[in-house]
Amino acid sequence: MTQHTLQIAPSLLAADFTRLGEQVVEAEQGGADLIHFDVMDGRFVPNITMGPFILEAVKRATNLPLDVHLMIVEPEKYVEDFANAGADYISVHIEASPHLHRTLQTIAQLGCRVGVAMNPHTPASAVAEVMHLVDIINVMTVNPGFGGQKFLYETMSKIAQLRAMAGNIQRHIDIEVDGGINTETAASAAQSGANVLVGGTSVFRYPNGIAAGIAALRDAALGNE
Ligand code: DX5
Ligand code: ZN
Repeated sequence: MTQHTLQIAPSLLAADFTRLGEQVVEAEQGGADLIHFDVMDGRFVPNITMGPFILEAVKRATNLPLDVHLMIVEPEKYVEDFANAGADYISVHIEASPHLHRTLQTIAQLGCRVGVAMNPHTPASAVAEVMHLVDIINVMTVNPGFGGQKFLYETMSKIAQLRAMAGNIQRHIDIEVDGGINTETAASAAQSGANVLVGGTSVFRYPNGIAAGIAALRDAALGNE
């Protein structure tokens, strides 16, 4: 667990979209490690957010890796568009991908880091047969679709299982937690074995600003609070 560096991934979903470029720069200067980019299609999840066109604009605003979380049906149709728009990581939902193995191979061939995302009800075993292809697993700690929801503690045991499974195949896999991560919940997630913390509300709506929000999450996860 210790060799997996803690990374903070601010989620743009909670950013001020009238000042998106500035907010991305502020996150980068504030110590963010990745920029988390939530794509929703109104089908896999009820909400609709943003697509490759906005990703391409974000790419021009930052040197940080862009972590694209596709909450869409038929993600295989769009992975190339997101790769071309500047995605560094692409995660597709297991529940939306009947041919997951092929889709993950495609992501790798496009030169991106390969991710799978899993809903709260999806068991760790669902990823077992593709684990050797994966660089990052996004364990949803809320039901995907909206920011600002309450963290689901029942997902913690799954993180520990996934960490053990990755260890068994001796593969370096980042485990990301997404949804409801704040200074109250970050420590549980980190202790369970997560090393990439997504923060939307807790970063972009932090009362003392974005940099302070990132620092607070990092401190909470490292137990320095
Ligand atoms: C939810 C998204 C999250 C969201 C997290 O479906 O995948 O990335 O932005 O927002 P917070 O941190 O506010 O729960
Ligand atoms: Zn997300």
